[in-house]
Amino acid sequence: APSDPDLVQRAAAAKAALGERVFVLGHHYQRDEVVQFADVTGDSFKLARDAAARPQAEYVVFCGVHFMAESADILTGPDQQVVLPDLAAGCSMADMATAEQVEQCWDTLTALAERDGRGIERVIPVSYMNSSADIKAFTGRHGGTICTSSNAERALRWAYEQGEQVLFLPDQHLGRNTAIRQLGFAPSDCVLYNPYKPNGGLTDAQLREAKLILWRGHCSVHGRFTEQCVDEVRELIPDVNVLVHPECRHEVVQKADYVGSTEYIIKTLEAAAPGTAWAIGTELNLVRRLADAHPDKRIVFLDKSVCYCSTMNRIDLPHLVWTLESLVAGKVVNRITVDPETARYSRLALEQMLALP
Ligand code: 13P
Ligand code: SF4
Repeated sequence: APSDPDLVQRAAAAKAALGERVFVLGHHYQRDEVVQFADVTGDSFKLARDAAARPQAEYVVFCGVHFMAESADILTGPDQQVVLPDLAAGCSMADMATAEQVEQCWDTLTALAERDGRGIERVIPVSYMNSSADIKAFTGRHGGTICTSSNAERALRWAYEQGEQVLFLPDQHLGRNTAIRQLGFAPSDCVLYNPYKPNGGLTDAQLREAKLILWRGHCSVHGRFTEQCVDEVRELIPDVNVLVHPECRHEVVQKADYVGSTEYIIKTLEAAAPGTAWAIGTELNLVRRLADAHPDKRIVFLDKSVCYCSTMNRIDLPHLVWTLESLVAGKVVNRITVDPETARYSRLALEQMLALP
């Protein structure tokens, strides 16, 4: 539905009144009505890199989900305040790895290393951006790195230069897809750690020998694309190019023609020849926007039954207007802060990512 013209006008007025004091960041999965007010749009990596790009801005309004706003708070200056227009905008994948579960997993791995007479230093944690600040701090404390879907290969290669085994949190699909497609691992090099079972549901031998320990987490949006979706769209549009996000299941990624982050998906379509056909396996707000932006190409959604990311969609125009108007009135609402100790170690892991070759 088109956005309420009154709210559009109010958002524009509030943003103009704040001028350089506010910096609005928008993830590619945000609604059109929100994206129109973003100073910068990007994938998770670009937004982490750009969060501190306007140091004179007192307020950084993050139109995305909670873990992204936390990272922005960690990466911005001490005088900058990060605001998330709706505090209920979380991420179900990030919630699949709690600090307690991850510490328990680490204790299990440490005890095993001790029994084997080896150091735990051989295990390097690599955590996907889509995780809480606690998990990022855990990663930094143990010499690991954060990655996003646009640098997971470089992060894994770096990690195997530091140690022998990687604990990848929390997205099993990004970890598995990157290891198999880009590092040439065999599926049997990877094991799946289930945090709800003792020893992760694995034997000591499995835990000891795996090159890659994948946490049992996934994205509820990308997890819904199936092999059948790919088969059906190929039948319907024989010359279609299938382009999917690496949060999709391995079987789906294997059947696709192109795989990459949201920023990669956007660039691939910009470079595509007119008249070509594309089926896109990622969140629907982005796919809709891409279809509108490229009327010369046929762009379809990979699966009609998959809908929006419900938590990304919580950030809507009414919440943005409320946030901006509150700031104009001198009231900071929904501020996201990370405690200094957590921020210190999270920053180590985030800076390691930003420094990846
Ligand atoms: P990217 O922004 O890295 O493409 O990740 C997509 C996503 O699911 C963010 O929550
Ligand atoms: Fe989380 Fe998936 Fe939504 Fe991204 S798309 S915020 S990973 S649930």
